Amino acid sequence: MKAYRASLLRFDFNGNALFDEDGLLVVGPDSAGRQVVLDAGPWHQVAPRHPGLDATSLPGRILAPGFIDMHIHFPQTDIIGAPADGLLPWLENYTFPAESQFTDPEHASQVAEVFLDELMRNGVTTALAFATSHPTSVNAIFSAAQRRELRMVAGKVLQDRHSPDGVRDETEQSLIDTEALIQRWHNVDRLGYAITPRFAPTCTDEQLRGAGELAARYPDTWIHTHVAENEDEVKWVMKLFPEARSYLDVYLGFDLMRARSIYAHCIHFDDDDRRLMRETGAAAAVSPTSNLFLGSGFFDFEGADRIGYHYGLASDVGGGTSFSPFHTMLAAYYVGREGRTKPGLSIAPSQLWWRHTAGAARALGLEGVVGNLQPGCEADFLVLNPKATPLLARKTGRASNLEELLFSLIVLGDDRVIEQTVISQAAPATGGVPKSTPSS
Ligand code: GUN
Ligand code: ZN
Repeated sequence: MKAYRASLLRFDFNGNALFDEDGLLVVGPDSAGRQVVLDAGPWHQVAPRHPGLDATSLPGRILAPGFIDMHIHFPQTDIIGAPADGLLPWLENYTFPAESQFTDPEHASQVAEVFLDELMRNGVTTALAFATSHPTSVNAIFSAAQRRELRMVAGKVLQDRHSPDGVRDETEQSLIDTEALIQRWHNVDRLGYAITPRFAPTCTDEQLRGAGELAARYPDTWIHTHVAENEDEVKWVMKLFPEARSYLDVYLGFDLMRARSIYAHCIHFDDDDRRLMRETGAAAAVSPTSNLFLGSGFFDFEGADRIGYHYGLASDVGGGTSFSPFHTMLAAYYVGREGRTKPGLSIAPSQLWWRHTAGAARALGLEGVVGNLQPGCEADFLVLNPKATPLLARKTGRASNLEELLFSLIVLGDDRVIEQTVISQAAPATGGVPKSTPSS
């Protein structure tokens, strides 16, 4: 058992932030030997429950849950900041050429390590990631995450049409490969598999149908795709699927909407789409730095809250411009404020933070597993230094309440605030006697 004494940020079941100025976090093994939160709260309440337990003191620091990135592309690490006239030219000119290199296992492994280094430096401890259409890329990201004991969800991209040589896959083989990857990686250690059709325009009906069938056969896998990001994309989809009521309705028609189906963007929606999200238990991965960078539009937070469907925050690197959850939360605030294309609102800092931690976990179907520091959660946590820069020191020193403190960190913070990223460890291997091979 280990204990840490510092300020402590957690969330209650309703998404309200709980902050203990003088807090205590106690971590230790669960019944399977994995490090989890055993106790958390104000020091004066928690300490007496653990007499004799020595706590590491971290004065001036805040312990907070590791961030969750609900939508990111690991093979796009090297194309952050590639300019284009919107989504479709960006895909054609930068994304597909970069992704075509991931047939090479060495390149895939090298980028996977850089990607995980960046996530962890920025305090992201769980992500839902696109790989590429090459199974090699999936093996690379899962192997690297497994070595670091990260909780990571990823999948092979399905794209069997309207895609250039080098990234286009073949319908039947793509589904065979997906099932083999599910069997190899899903629920192994902290890894989870996401069935990943790139988006409706690059998938044939047959491929989308196959994806829906796999999703039914493996009901605790994730489904991960893009929807309603860009106006040209929406027009293209309506031409390709003239019978569909809307872009989102295309996915419904192939049985790709259920709990654990995660839809990136969800910008060009009407209320019927929002109700469909709510009724199916699907969730949106809101990716504001990407939407601003590619000029895609503004996620309607008011519409999402009014209808009441799940959503959380995401970087969408490399369309997104930063691995930093602070930058993503600030961009979400800007997008929320925008009031010309939709109602503008001011999202509370604690709400932005929840949408990138415990709220994202709820949207992913991982509530109580990651994204919070309540008892039972896996012990992925951050040590934050709220005085990491001179300006932050001035600002956070003047904060008179929690919302002011969190807003200072969101507006001025970046990877310098993340002093330490702690990942939940499994029980040490016990050694033991090797299994005997059956005699013939
Ligand atoms: N739509 C289809 N593929 C992509 C992608 O790689 N990034 C983004 N932002 N949108 C997409
Ligand atoms: Zn994306």
